Parts: sequence; structure tokens; C-alpha cells
Amino acid sequence: MSSVRKIKILAVETSCDETALALVEASGGLKSPKFEILKNVVSSQTKIHAHWGGVVPNLAKREHIKNLPMIFRKIFESKVKSQRLKVDVVAVTVGPGLEPALWTGVNFAKEIHEELTTKNQKLKPKLVGVNHLEGHLYSFLLAKDRSYVLKNIRTIFPAIALIVSGGHTILLKMDSLTKWKKLGETRDDAVGEAFDKVARMLGLPYPGGPEIEKLAARSAVLGKRSASEDYINFPRPMIDQKNYDFSFSGLKTAVLYYLRDKYRSDVLKNVRTKIKQKKIADIAASFQKAAIDVLVSKTMRAAREFGARSVMLSGGVASNSALRKQLSVVSRKSSVNFFVCPKKFNTDNAVMIAVAGYIQYLQNKKRLLRAQGNLNL
Ligand code: KG4
Ligand code: ZN
Repeated sequence: MSSVRKIKILAVETSCDETALALVEASGGLKSPKFEILKNVVSSQTKIHAHWGGVVPNLAKREHIKNLPMIFRKIFESKVKSQRLKVDVVAVTVGPGLEPALWTGVNFAKEIHEELTTKNQKLKPKLVGVNHLEGHLYSFLLAKDRSYVLKNIRTIFPAIALIVSGGHTILLKMDSLTKWKKLGETRDDAVGEAFDKVARMLGLPYPGGPEIEKLAARSAVLGKRSASEDYINFPRPMIDQKNYDFSFSGLKTAVLYYLRDKYRSDVLKNVRTKIKQKKIADIAASFQKAAIDVLVSKTMRAAREFGARSVMLSGGVASNSALRKQLSVVSRKSSVNFFVCPKKFNTDNAVMIAVAGYIQYLQNKKRLLRAQGNLNL
């Protein structure tokens, strides 16, 4: 059966500010998809963009163009050329993301695919365009307890999947590996975007999510006690509404107004001189708690309403330990499985693109091979 055959996938991800390539061996078909990661390289551009306080599309494009061939050589440098030809599928992110950045990956993947096809007509490698959000969604197949996932793949559905990244906040109901329905999404800022913007208000560097997390957790700054997440009772937007949409712009603004009213400062370049470290940490912790409360509450309400057997968490913000912990604890209490992959596969990477590429290849699903900035699920 061709679908169960072991295949080698070369995956390319350039949707934002990470240039990532991966070589993954996939097998098992849709009934039992297994992955062996042969190579995984992520080259982050955050240091370059940090200077501008956010991602600059044309800078990202320039860096991807420079990095892609370098990483490609690194992956194959120890291999003889004939091994390179054994790639069965080239999977590339086509969207959503920054179009100039996406194009670099798409064009690179096309070149590699053409070279492989010319050199080995027999193998007929496939070129598969992948939705970045499906990459995040399927990252639960890389969870630490993935053997449990695979053994129980027929009984883990229906599942509720929460995707939380810099550009998206989406709640889905999955009936099977290939059938899902969107329940809701953010009406304004994505939760990662809110983390980044609040971090900026607090004078923290880009990307702000990990900085907020560090500050909220770091008791060293604060002496003996850890940051107080109850220090300020920031609003939990839409938490009681009976839909599955989110809104994080109001929460972000609440932090801004708090800083303005209390410290007479808005984008607080000089925040460190105005507010004591402990207070900044308390504000960060209170914001983080408000955001997590909304995410967890709505996810678990969906799990109850739809009788979910599992909850899956993915996207860059899923690397936040407090969110992972809170969702895992309430899932356990509700006797629902909780799946999340190791942190390195939550933030953008190409392994998740190989995984989604495999599922798509098995379904023979065609997607346009051009950059689609606004592609949705
Ligand atoms: O999935 P991702 O790498 O890129 C997009 O597809 O957007 O997500 C990046 C987002 C950024 O907003 C970043 O601040 C956030 O994920 N993030 C975090 C953490 N690590 C990354 N947010 C909160 N806590 C973290 N530890
Ligand atoms: Zn992402």
C-alpha cells in the first residue's frame, strides 16, 4: 500500500522570521502516521528584527534568500548527491504569512523540486503546498506521548484544538485527523500579538511572549516571592460569551491605560526608571493570567459542549509554560486527554510543515503553489 510506505519529506518554512528546513521520514498512512526527524534546522532572525520592534517583511525576505541555500547545504553536506535524490515529497508553506517571505520559500522549493525531478525521473517527487496553520494543528503528532496518540488515534476524537500564535487565535473541533470545523477565532489581535505589544509597553525586547513569561515567572528579580498574577485584575474579554470567538485588543488596551493612569507613561521606553522591577513583573504576570484564563475557559467550555475526548494546544504561544500547565491540569480534571508537542515544535519550524505535508500528500489534496498571505483554515 503506497500510503503506508516510508517516504522522505523535505520541508521548507519561511512564513515569518524563521528560516527553517527539515528532512523527515514519514510512514504509517492516515491510520497511524509516524515521523522520524532526520534533520531539523531553524535559523531565527529575531535579533535582526528586534531592532525595529517587530518583523520587517523585506528584511525577512532578504535573510530567507541568504539562509535557505546555506541551511540546505548544511542538511545535505554529509550526504552524497544520490541520497539527496531520495526525497519523495517537497513540502512548503504557502500561507498564511508575510507574502515577500513566503515567496522565498515557495520559489526555493520549486527550484529544489525541479532539480530532483530532472535528476531522477523515476522517483517523480511531489511538490506540496502546506497551510502553516495546519502545520501548527498537526504538531500534536509530535507530542512526547505520540505512541499513545498513535495507538489511540481512533478514540482521541472528537477533539478541541486551540491554535495560538503571533497572527492567529483559533478554536477548532476535530472529528478525525482530516475532518474539522472552526468554532471561533479572534476578532482583533491574536494572543501572541497581545503578548508582543504588552511586552513593548513594558520596555521588553521583541519577541515579547517569552520575555513576559520569563518576567512573570522569575522570582530572582523579585526576591523570595514570585510575581503576583493577582496584582491587577485585568479584564478577561468575552470569557462569558456563549461563542468561541476571542478578543485581545481590549486586554492590551487595559494594560496601556493602567500604565498611563498609574505611571503617566504610555509606550514606556523609560519604564524601567519609572517603575520598580517587581511591579513590572507583577503587571506582566497579571496580563499573562488574564490572557490564559480566557483561552483555557473557552477551550474547556468547547470540550464540554462537544463531548471532546482530547484537547490539543499548538502555535508559538503554546510554548508558554503557564498556559501548558493550566490547560493540562484542567483537562486532567475533566478526564480529557491533553496533547502538546515539545516547545521547539510550537514556535515556527519545518518539521510541523513536513507533518502537515504528509497528511496532505496522503489525501492527494492540491493547493496553489504561490504565496497566499491571508490563507485561512
Ligand atoms: O507560531 P509562531 O512562532 O509564529 C506565528 O505563526 O505567528 O508564534 C509566535 C508568537 C509570538 O507572538 C511570540 O511572542 C509568541 O508566539 N510566543 C510566546 C512564547 N513564545 C513565543 N508567547 C507567550 N509565551 C511564550 N513563551
Ligand atoms: Zn506559526
